[in-house]
Amino acid sequence: MQIDRCLCFRTTFAELKAVAGATGAESIAALQEHVAFGHNCRLCHPYVRRMLRTGETVFREIVTEADEPGGDTGR
Ligand code: FES
Repeated sequence: MQIDRCLCFRTTFAELKAVAGATGAESIAALQEHVAFGHNCRLCHPYVRRMLRTGETVFREIVTEADEPGGDTGR
């Protein structure tokens, strides 16, 4: 299964990456000031954080503990 968007808001990680690049937003909260996503189930949050760290916009595996060693930091 390809994971490439916030399913609740239909916002792709590629769109979010473009917004991050255009605005300098470096966190979920900062991105949410510019685009609607991630306000419902929040399952997209670990993927958005990884997109912000790595630039990846399409994922094919489930996020593991290795991706979130400190847990949800609220970013
Ligand atoms: S998938 Fe992003 S809020 Fe549900």
